[in-house]
Amino acid sequence: MIRSPLITVMVQAVRKAGRALVRDFGEVENLQVSLKGPANFVSSADRKAEDTLFAELSRARPGYGFTMEERGRVEGTDPANEWVVDPLDGTTNFLHGIPLFAISLALVRNGVPFAGVIFNPVSDELYVAEKGQGAYLNDRRLRVAARRKLSDSVVGCGIPHLGRGDHAKFQKELALVQSQVAGVRRTGAAALDLAWVAAGRFDGFWERDLSPWDMAAGVILIREAGGYVSDLDGGDQSLDKGHIIAGNEVIREDLIKLLKKA
Ligand code: IPD
Ligand code: CA
Ligand code: CA
Repeated sequence: MIRSPLITVMVQAVRKAGRALVRDFGEVENLQVSLKGPANFVSSADRKAEDTLFAELSRARPGYGFTMEERGRVEGTDPANEWVVDPLDGTTNFLHGIPLFAISLALVRNGVPFAGVIFNPVSDELYVAEKGQGAYLNDRRLRVAARRKLSDSVVGCGIPHLGRGDHAKFQKELALVQSQVAGVRRTGAAALDLAWVAAGRFDGFWERDLSPWDMAAGVILIREAGGYVSDLDGGDQSLDKGHIIAGNEVIREDLIKLLKKA
């Protein structure tokens, strides 16, 4: 595990927010049977987690700015450093009592993801990476999967839902990918998908219409695990363009070529 002061600050913040999320997730499971459903309860759990992260990180690094899903942009006095935060990635899973969600926290330095922590508090899986220091899942060093053939690969994706994204385009992309790979998966939490690429669970992943807080921590995790991550045009603009594709060198290239045909 990396034990730099920066990572220590980030891990303390996500663990604190994660403890409250786990308690709230327990409540959500009970609320499933009520007619009103747990929706309001979940958005307050989301906001509470963001408040905790904001308070902890502001205290530890007073000058840094923020881009947070709920709060938006908060300018800091230090123009080089910005926290990019999704307090609850996988909201729909959380709402439905599915234990696949995470806190995603990145430090973006001079516009580039420098450190990332993705934490699933239910499984207690803590993914950590810092530039030049490698990527870890709890205490285990991570490497992306080495498979070189799409036909052996399991590929994750995001499925655009009601009112979001280009459904027809996604159907074409999926048809192409499913005809070439060993399996396609959809977890419902983009930050975890990217962490799973870093961990070698997924050989590749692509998704459109994402926000910077879904991706920033995953980008540094994958790079530090020896993987390749880009926008769907093959460039380094994922956070600005809102689309992302990842894998090892070969699988990412082959997936880009395949998706271009859609
Ligand atoms: C969502 C998840 C999901 C992705 C969505 C994201 P949220 O984030 O990452 O996997 O497909 O597009 O918006 O809303 O759960 O924080
Ligand atoms: Ca998200
Ligand atoms: Ca979220």
